[in-house]
Amino acid sequence: MNRRLARKWYDGIDRAKEILDISKERDLTLEEIEELKTLHTGYGGLTSFKSDQFFTPEVVTSFLVDMVDPKDGWNVLEFSCGCGAFLNALTQKNSNINLTGIELSYDLAQIASLCYPKANIIRGDALDYLAEFEGRMNLVISNPPFGMPTVRKNFEVARRASEQYFLEMAVRCLKPGGVVALILPEGIFCNSHTKPLRKWLMEKCYYLGTISLPIQTFYFAGTGVKTSIMLAKKKYPGHEAGNYPVFMAICEEVGWDNRGKPTGKCDLDKIREAYFELKPEQDAYLENSKTEFDVINF
Ligand SMILES: C[S@@+](CC[C@H](N)C(=O)[O-])C[C@H]1O[C@@H](n2cnc3c(N)ncnc32)[C@H](O)[C@@H]1O
Repeated sequence: MNRRLARKWYDGIDRAKEILDISKERDLTLEEIEELKTLHTGYGGLTSFKSDQFFTPEVVTSFLVDMVDPKDGWNVLEFSCGCGAFLNALTQKNSNINLTGIELSYDLAQIASLCYPKANIIRGDALDYLAEFEGRMNLVISNPPFGMPTVRKNFEVARRASEQYFLEMAVRCLKPGGVVALILPEGIFCNSHTKPLRKWLMEKCYYLGTISLPIQTFYFAGTGVKTSIMLAKKKYPGHEAGNYPVFMAICEEVGWDNRGKPTGKCDLDKIREAYFELKPEQDAYLENSKTEFDVINF
């Protein structure tokens, strides 16, 4: 990361902390709340308090929220919400959803609850909430923590790394027909040790698509990890969808290069258009698999 960006980053962290301190003394003004939001949205990552907290840039959060198109009354979970990059895009898209955010860091959870007072923000370890949210969500959307060594007993297939646990939790929290949209490290899609997880995912879900993101996506968050977006839909019990089309796209441009210089090019609009062209055909296969029972309940 270059010095100018690092300075901006740390100034952002300092200012966010200052505003958090003010919030302990009195209610924040609308301007202060807007400032807090601006500090953590923009290009993402400006208010990371710790080195493993890489926030998603707005161009990606709004793209992904458009793709999943949350409907009125949906229960939506962002289980590693940071200071709210996805909460921001979700509430802008549809303010009529029941939104829950979980975040381990006290400061970040505090920022999320100040900026998104209508959302239910829980400060805690998301993996402790599996039983509470199991089977309740229409949508789970996040960029979860990657590569953190994790061991939990009540998980069926996840092993070793945090992203495996978050993926299993996302799927288990969905109702049949619910959608999971996660940004994941590319290894999870191809490593041999994650094969059991992929097999389990295909048993539980209809795989909807993958969008590969370029390395520079998280430049402003201070990391060059290669990621992809995964979209899947929880199966309706006892039904298979047959040979349905799956969406695959490679995004090469997100608006800046791998030194953070604006390029004026972004592939995400084109990708979204292509997805919505395919979606009716995909939906026709997947929706036909509903039973009377599922239709009544969802
Ligand atoms: C990669 S960042 C992404 C934040 C946010 N989802 C976004 O897209 O901007 C992952 C977040 O997960 C949080 N986190 C790490 N372990 C967690 C856990 N066990 N439960 C809840 N949050 C956790 C970190 O503090 C960090 O804010």
